[in-house]
Amino acid sequence: MTRHRYTARTVDPHELYEKSVQDPAADVALMIRWFERRRRRVPLVLREDFAGTAWMCAEWIRSDPARRAVGVDLSAATMAWGRRRHFRPGNPDGADPRRMRWLRLDVRSARVPRADLTCAFNFSWCVFLDRPALLRYFKAAQRGLAADGLFALDIHGGPTSFTPGRDERRMGGFTYVWDQGAVDPITHRTLRRIHFEFPDGSRRRNVYRYDWRVWTLPETREALLDAGFRRVDVLWELYDKNGEGSGIFRHVEHAKNDDSWVAYLLAWK
Ligand SMILES: C[S@@+](CC[C@H](N)C(=O)[O-])C[C@H]1O[C@@H](n2cnc3c(N)ncnc32)[C@H](O)[C@@H]1O
Repeated sequence: MTRHRYTARTVDPHELYEKSVQDPAADVALMIRWFERRRRRVPLVLREDFAGTAWMCAEWIRSDPARRAVGVDLSAATMAWGRRRHFRPGNPDGADPRRMRWLRLDVRSARVPRADLTCAFNFSWCVFLDRPALLRYFKAAQRGLAADGLFALDIHGGPTSFTPGRDERRMGGFTYVWDQGAVDPITHRTLRRIHFEFPDGSRRRNVYRYDWRVWTLPETREALLDAGFRRVDVLWELYDKNGEGSGIFRHVEHAKNDDSWVAYLLAWK
């Protein structure tokens, strides 16, 4: 196996971002499983909000020849990178570009076609800093769904989500650093940054910066219900025998407030 020789000077940040924080095949499988279980039909149209490089859309399209996807994002440059990486015509590993629609729009826009399933992952929806802004987004997501549609999002919590700190993960050829700033107790606003470090000692700091609000799970769930969703299920991750996240999620009504947790919220129209 050839090991990449990553170094700050030549590295492609989108490639490292995808490797570090995304697992779209698992997310797509989870969303389809829950949709089919509850709705007894096959979902065909995905809308990925805050799509960035739209890797999720590519996995969705690859999962079934009848599937189509819509990626919504404000960054033309990030979407252009995603088009080259995941949708290049003739690439046997790529997704069919004819079944993909790119929309350079705010996720709150009404000009987005209807979807069976909409997702907003990696906590991107935390860009909305107050409840009216969040509610406006959740209402747009609700309106943009088919009558039996599902809106899936993820949320990070636990005591350490409120404390400053660095989480470093060796990724094979580089180190991913999640740098968490202090949370303002009055506004819950915080700065979160991603840095990358390389075996030759070089580094790229502040490659991604997020000015976010830390939304609690009850606040988020109540906002989803106020936006018109009928019910919101919480999927909680089970732990393996070493206390690590297992990647297996169960629908729960109550949970233990572990130091740091990630949950899925499934909001049903
Ligand atoms: C954290 S990245 C998410 C990338 C990827 N989809 C993921 O799940 O990891 C956030 C993306 O949201 C986009 N974005 C931020 N605010 C937005 C808005 N109001 N409407 C649409 N896209 C937005 C940014 O351009 C950026 O590409």
